[in-house]
Amino acid sequence: MLRRLSPVQPDSFEFTPANLKWARAQMTKFPEGRQMSAIIPLLWRAQEQEGWLSRPAIEYVAEMLGMSYIRALEVATFYFMFQLQPVGKIAHIQICGTTTCMICGAGDLIRVCREKIAASPHVVSADGNFSWEEVECLGACSNAPMVQIGKDYYEDLTAEKLSALIDALAAGQVPVPGPQNGRFSSEPMGGPVALASIERVEKMNASAALAVAQRDTVKRIDGTEVPLLTPWMRQPEKAEGEGAYDPHPGEGRPVDKTGVTVQEAAGTSAARPPSKREPAGQPADAKDTE
Ligand code: FES
Repeated sequence: MLRRLSPVQPDSFEFTPANLKWARAQMTKFPEGRQMSAIIPLLWRAQEQEGWLSRPAIEYVAEMLGMSYIRALEVATFYFMFQLQPVGKIAHIQICGTTTCMICGAGDLIRVCREKIAASPHVVSADGNFSWEEVECLGACSNAPMVQIGKDYYEDLTAEKLSALIDALAAGQVPVPGPQNGRFSSEPMGGPVALASIERVEKMNASAALAVAQRDTVKRIDGTEVPLLTPWMRQPEKAEGEGAYDPHPGEGRPVDKTGVTVQEAAGTSAARPPSKREPAGQPADAKDTE
């Protein structure tokens, strides 16, 4: 499948202040000079914010990481999880069309999307609210057929149930994700045959319960939803502009008598025991140098 940037592009992109702070914190996870390793989480956060990855978003992330545009574009076009076309304002529905789901009725789900959203995948509905695509196995084969909407799986679907789901989303509701046929998770339809005597107190499985609690099934992520956890920075987060951002927290901070920094220490022979697999006479850290 050819993956090309959309011919329709916004003029610009920038992270929200909270997402920018989150993105900068991600960059501190990587050693000095390797900040471009944060490319996937930053592109993903840009997509979570906007729903899809525009050219300005890809270039913005590339500039943050000191990469050439083409290298960021290579990553964005390689991974199918990145949407390169605008998606529906409310939801982009990903229908699993692999063997188990197809045998169990994925074709019916695709028909519903063709009728209710758009005749072709990756086309936004006339009202701008929905889009859909067929994807490969999403790893929930025992609950086939299923779709992914936002972060959540909706499983054990029928055409009628998917149609009702789309209607509920259009009405501003947050449908309960997980199995849609009364199953708790992926136990047999007649109930569990192992550990059957254990009394279950939860009403829904953990993934579904968390999604319902957070009500973020299809929400765009602007960074204000969850605490910005950056424990590796060893200091409480401060607001943007208060001097909290340090993209190189280990720089110049010696950790042992050799004077290596926190960032360098993990890659040196002084910091790790010699490996039996390293050939005799070869310095332990020789292969760590570029
Ligand atoms: S075949 Fe659909 S989730 Fe695996």
